[in-house]
Amino acid sequence: MNDTRSTPFWPGPGSGAPEMPPLVSAPVMQAATAPAADAPDAPAAAAADHADLEEVREPLPFRRPAPPAARPEAEHSATPVLGPTGRPMPDLPQPRPIGIHGNARIIALCNQKGGVGKTTTTINLGAALAEYGRKVLLVDFDPQGSLSVGLGLNPHEIDLTVYNLLLQRDVSIDDVIVPSGVPGMDLLPSNIDLSAAEVQLVQEVAREQTLQRVLQPAISLYDVILIDCQPSLGLLTVNALTASDGVIVPLECEYFALRGVALLKTTIDKVTERLNPNLRIDGVLGTMFDGRTLHGREVMERLVQAWGDTVFHTVIRRTVKFSDSTVAGEPITSYATASPGAEAYRQLAREVLARCPDA
Ligand SMILES: Nc1ncnc2c1ncn2[C@@H]1O[C@H](COP(=O)(O)OP(=O)(O)OP(=O)(O)O)[C@@H](O)[C@H]1O
Ligand SMILES: [Mg+2]
Repeated sequence: MNDTRSTPFWPGPGSGAPEMPPLVSAPVMQAATAPAADAPDAPAAAAADHADLEEVREPLPFRRPAPPAARPEAEHSATPVLGPTGRPMPDLPQPRPIGIHGNARIIALCNQKGGVGKTTTTINLGAALAEYGRKVLLVDFDPQGSLSVGLGLNPHEIDLTVYNLLLQRDVSIDDVIVPSGVPGMDLLPSNIDLSAAEVQLVQEVAREQTLQRVLQPAISLYDVILIDCQPSLGLLTVNALTASDGVIVPLECEYFALRGVALLKTTIDKVTERLNPNLRIDGVLGTMFDGRTLHGREVMERLVQAWGDTVFHTVIRRTVKFSDSTVAGEPITSYATASPGAEAYRQLAREVLARCPDA
């Protein structure tokens, strides 16, 4: 049993992941709705002024708005509205308020490919969950420190980081947690020091469970803990997966982004099998989606073919507002609160809460 702890954990080639189907032709676009019947070109009341009634009545059948227009509308409303993933959009209820915080669901944002929206999703999903009254802790588990920078921290000025928490027994989680600037959301910051942890943890007993151990005291204080992983499948990412209840896989809606997902799935399967049987994939999130391009729609269709309902109905569209909000050091939900990007992350928060009733 405990021999799994000492077995080096590196994902090998091959995969138990669903094979990606070949690129399919673009979804056939729905025909445009038929134009509405022409409106009458003169008010019917004017007809009353005419002395010759026969003359007035004759054109009436052509002028009346056609009553059967109601029927196609009813038929239309029965047709489910398709979301950007090509599936009917479910009703995502407003999350119920919660009185007592705690028993946090830990979710890792994981993809070994760089620049797919892990950090952006961690910040903005966290902020949206906090807007819905959840107490949220973000864990910057990437030596690049992008999550900390994205929330306005200077990585060189942080005294204690996740690195100290992982490797120094005398440092407690309370010493490291800082407010994120968003009400209800805190941060475990990180900087380049964490890159040394990857090497130093190899010497530790139960090295894959180190993050799980140090996060333990925070579980009773928060409703959701989001871990922003680095773009690799090394020991830090295995630690994040071992500590988590769920994984969200952000995936840029580009062809090359699909490559390597099978390896990620293999890693998740191995962690589930050997280290954390409770781990499950909470969802695959399409990011930087551009529904105007054939390519974007094809990639999305392929993703749904391979992953089915694991793919979130919510997709995050490409917009420069995300880069702008990163520069401003705050989430899009406060930087551009009414923007489509902010609304998309609120919808994602509702979808995550609907999928994970314990969050
Ligand atoms: N929906 C989006 N539209 C446009 N730009 C985006 C979107 N999401 C993220 N970006 C931008 O793309 C870049 C990469 O995003 P992000 O840092 O979130 O990816 P990451 O997966 O965390 O990267 P890394 O693997 O390096 O940690 C950033 O500049 C970010 O502002
Ligand atoms: Mg990142």
